[in-house]
Amino acid sequence: MRVVVTGGTGYVGCHLIDALARRSVEVLAPARATTPPEAKEFLRSRGAEVREVDFDRPSDLAELFRGRPVWFHLVGSVARLRGDSFEHRHRVITARLVEQAKRAGVERVVFLSALGSGPDARNAYHRTKWEAEQEIVRSGIAGAIVRPSLICGRVVGPRDSKLVRRYIEMIRKRGRALVLGAGRNRIQPVDVRDLVECMVRAAERREDGVAAFDLGGPDQVTFDEFIGRLARALGREAKIVHIPMWIAAAAARILEPIQAAPAITRETVALMRSDNICARDSIERSFGFRPRDLDETLGTYAGESAR
Ligand SMILES: NC(=O)c1ccc[n+]([C@@H]2O[C@H](COP(=O)([O-])OP(=O)(O)OC[C@H]3O[C@@H](n4cnc5c(N)ncnc54)[C@H](OP(=O)(O)O)[C@@H]3O)[C@@H](O)[C@H]2O)c1
Repeated sequence: MRVVVTGGTGYVGCHLIDALARRSVEVLAPARATTPPEAKEFLRSRGAEVREVDFDRPSDLAELFRGRPVWFHLVGSVARLRGDSFEHRHRVITARLVEQAKRAGVERVVFLSALGSGPDARNAYHRTKWEAEQEIVRSGIAGAIVRPSLICGRVVGPRDSKLVRRYIEMIRKRGRALVLGAGRNRIQPVDVRDLVECMVRAAERREDGVAAFDLGGPDQVTFDEFIGRLARALGREAKIVHIPMWIAAAAARILEPIQAAPAITRETVALMRSDNICARDSIERSFGFRPRDLDETLGTYAGESAR
């Protein structure tokens, strides 16, 4: 199999490309000039071809899909970054890539969206993820949209879940974790290894059309419980400090215009206001295997120094 992985230089992308390399899949991973060099090096160490492109220059994208019938599309982020809108990062870039993929005759696409995406979502991240999904659906290319809850665990690569990494640093350095709101919103973390297994299996399916899969691991936990279990996996105690939502929302309004990459944004506040869960057996039912439980996933952070 010859595939293109866009967004392959990120946390999930490194795990996906590692899994593809183990299956002897030939991978082309477009990367930006600004992509951290260690991410490019990691992908090359797994045998991937890393090609520098400007995702805003159609001529850079024209040849990507030629002779590569499968496309994994992972470009995206919940981060609010100055100079890169959600609309651009999700919908516009997806539309540009869809155009080239269609032209080259791509046969299957697997798009990594996010649980909670929808036309009426109350935050720009989930709304624009939905718009990107629609570009994929309208493309006419068969495939799958996977919508995971929080992805965690790290076994390879130089990059990590930014949210989990932030909490690991807080717990290690200060023995304290700041949580927006009451910490009672429920999440359903999914192990990154299980997620990439679902993505690979989704690429191997043969059905017509685009199927969408909401995905979560076997444990539904409140955010506070998640932090407690993360701290235990690190062998630490963590005091959880709750920031009232009205203060968090005010902080987002103040920080967004003045910081290039604010830690508190309208999206981070919105994500903590509601549950982000789906069926407990979502993976088993759709992909036929038992996903790892949360403690096994969080255990990957305990042995970090060995990597
Ligand atoms: N992590 C989670 O818990 C989670 C949960 C649900 C859904 N997701 C989705 O999963 C995908 C991968 O997440 P991740 O955690 O691996 O994120 P990540 O580590 O930040 O990686 C994001 C990838 O997208 C690329 N990218 C971002 N903005 C771009 C832009 N404007 N133009 C071109 N490329 C751009 C990055 O390129 P560079 O390497 O150049 O920065 C990187 O390859 C995202 O679409 C995210 O929305 C993540």
